[in-house]
Amino acid sequence: MTKKNKTVWSGRFKSSTSKSFQRIGASISVDKRLYEQDIFASKIHTQMLIKKKIIPAKAGKKIIKGLDKIKGQIRKGKFKFEEKFEDIHLNIEKKLYEIIGDSAGYMHTARSRNDQVVTDFKLWVKDSSLILIKELNSLMKNLINKADKNVSTVMPGFTHLKNAQPVSFAHYLLAYYEMLKRDKRRFQNNLELIDESPLGAAALSGTSYNIDRNFTSKKLGFKKPTSNSIDTVSDRDFAIDFLYACAVCAMHLSRLAEDFIILNSDAYQLINFNDKMLTGSSIMPQKKNPDPAELIRGRTGINYGKLNSILTIMKGLPISYFKDLQDDKALVFDGFDTLKDTLTLSNELIKNVNPNKIKMSEMAKTGYTTATDFADYLVKDKKLSFREAYKVSSKIVNYAEKNKKNLDDLTLNEIKRFYKKVNSNVLKIFNVRNSMNSKNSYGGTSERNIKNMIRKYKKEIK
Ligand code: ARG
Repeated sequence: MTKKNKTVWSGRFKSSTSKSFQRIGASISVDKRLYEQDIFASKIHTQMLIKKKIIPAKAGKKIIKGLDKIKGQIRKGKFKFEEKFEDIHLNIEKKLYEIIGDSAGYMHTARSRNDQVVTDFKLWVKDSSLILIKELNSLMKNLINKADKNVSTVMPGFTHLKNAQPVSFAHYLLAYYEMLKRDKRRFQNNLELIDESPLGAAALSGTSYNIDRNFTSKKLGFKKPTSNSIDTVSDRDFAIDFLYACAVCAMHLSRLAEDFIILNSDAYQLINFNDKMLTGSSIMPQKKNPDPAELIRGRTGINYGKLNSILTIMKGLPISYFKDLQDDKALVFDGFDTLKDTLTLSNELIKNVNPNKIKMSEMAKTGYTTATDFADYLVKDKKLSFREAYKVSSKIVNYAEKNKKNLDDLTLNEIKRFYKKVNSNVLKIFNVRNSMNSKNSYGGTSERNIKNMIRKYKKEIK
């Protein structure tokens, strides 16, 4: 075996690692995605080693130059990643030897792959959280835009998927704005917890070199160094937090997608999608299917799976580092990629959805959706107790049902059969727009409320 091909630990080994384990145990195909973070952290580690006179400045400078060269090669696609060197850390170290010779041997002073990998990984999760936050922002803005155009669009609000009470389509859309706002907060909260630099924890016990962890922490963009070296190399709770935030966000978007699939179905016909968001059938010429919405819904399963996997990997692991932890990265990368695509699709879906206003208004009237408004009217105007008013209103619903009428088709005389002391004003109570606009309590669906909320949202999201 040539020197170039040797692993860093070959001196202690009688034979090289089995070929099958080299293939199965290597993480390079996955963790090469960490190359930017790995080179960045190695450069800062080296700067610190020079500053603290732990390594000769000359060797240190060569290392930094060599690392920049490697970064250039990787970016240009000219770097050959090798399975036999396991992971991104050793691939880069090997290449550094090739470029600068034995000075490369100074780079791994006072660190271990155990603190190195978690440093790289935290940096990656930080960057990726910011990318998702940006995507969320743009989706939230599009929700506001769509809502802004539909403040007065009346639709049936559902509970149990049965027509419940009239609501504004804007109010419905903005419910998702609120969910996404909390999703964004979850990623932001994680950024606070993750903000401690692992570098310097070394294998698990810290190091006897006179390193400056505050220097590396600051240069890496962390708030402070971690406080316990064993915890530092053992835990991956930040990856779990990230995957949990991804899973919850995916769940919210899945519900939106499911809503849209139902509202777009031939049974409902309450919303339409522009053709961009539809696909055809290979056999049925008439079909236009909402495939993007279905993928958003389905892929939530992938996000849940990643979270479940990492929780399971961690649960029985004695501290500190074990190889089990290596698979954390594939899970987080997949979780990120999946949610990012889901956010892209959701964004397009919102831009390309159009309410069928006529159908919405018709359906808002069916199913006696203003029965509660009539009960409330009797309470407020006629001083009945709510339970008594509820009874009168249910009798009217029974009558309307028997006579195949909507509530707003009833005449004053018909209503008087159930409650005598009313005048023609009562007819307004059954109007769905009036019903919607009467819900003026903070957070309710009145147009006035919604307009205020949209104003507030526009300010907070800029
Ligand atoms: N590729 C490894 C991982 O992702 C790096 C850390 C290796 N440390 C070790 N002691 N084998 O976890």
